[in-house]
Amino acid sequence: VTLSERSLDAVADYIKSGKVRRIVVMTGAGISTAAGIPDFRSPETGLYANLAKLNLPEPEAVFDLNFFKTNPKPFYVLAKDLYPGNFHPTISHVFIRMLSTKGLLHQLYTQNIDCLERAAGIPSELIVEAHGSFANQRCIDCKTAFPHDLMREHISRAEVPRCTRPNCKGLVKPDIVFFHEALPSLFYDRIHMADTADLALVMGTSLQVHPFASLPEQVPTHVPRVLFNLERVGSLGSHADDVLVLGDCDTGVRKLADALGWREELEAEWRQ
Ligand code: OAD
Repeated sequence: VTLSERSLDAVADYIKSGKVRRIVVMTGAGISTAAGIPDFRSPETGLYANLAKLNLPEPEAVFDLNFFKTNPKPFYVLAKDLYPGNFHPTISHVFIRMLSTKGLLHQLYTQNIDCLERAAGIPSELIVEAHGSFANQRCIDCKTAFPHDLMREHISRAEVPRCTRPNCKGLVKPDIVFFHEALPSLFYDRIHMADTADLALVMGTSLQVHPFASLPEQVPTHVPRVLFNLERVGSLGSHADDVLVLGDCDTGVRKLADALGWREELEAEWRQ
């Protein structure tokens, strides 16, 4: 038994003790790679390593508002591959849903734009989509909403949609937070929920993008933070009660579910 597995048992005992009432979960692209959606920064498989064919000045330009205004096409090439509807929630998503059905989920903060949290059935009032999502889209000039069915058609053909308002013709962009754009106000309204957590789970994120990357710092020092990730990230591991579960997050989550006696329920809910 490794140290992290012993510690994971301790986390399970803490949850089972009934002392845990407010779990905050912070997620990134790593929880969706098992669904077939690439993450951004993994060296071989990440999107940023595979954007060379789009001739970008740098990979991040695909999410850069100024670049988008001059050349929106690369974003729409990428959007075709990322667009929700073709993917199914992972074990990690279903585990988070189980936390909510058991009344333990205080807040989920996600950086993901794939809408798999909603697809997994996590109540929307518990989700903060910190980087927005593909759920809505609008003109970047006049802000007029653009119809969903038209958006789906454009994205399936990797075509750039234009505003439908007469005489506008502005570029249409999903409500995804690009670099140089503010995060949704909900992120700031709910940031304090992390202060009152009695357990934090950080899953599948490199914690490279601020302000999201500072969320784990909102958690009080005496509150255990558990990292489920391929690699160690941010300041996770620097607090006495931090637990590092390094490896793929579905495997880590299954181990925690085993320790909690929730494994059968988890697998059954995932298969549905
Ligand atoms: P990254 O690609 O930066 O990081 C993903 C993290 O998950 C890395 O640390 C991987 O090692 C880890 N990982 C990958 N697969 C995993 C698995 N199966 N199990 C466990 N860990 C795994 O993705 P994010 O941190 O989400 O912005 O990136 C943050 C933001 O940067 C994104 O929201 C995106 C991007 O610019 C927008 O979309 C606007």
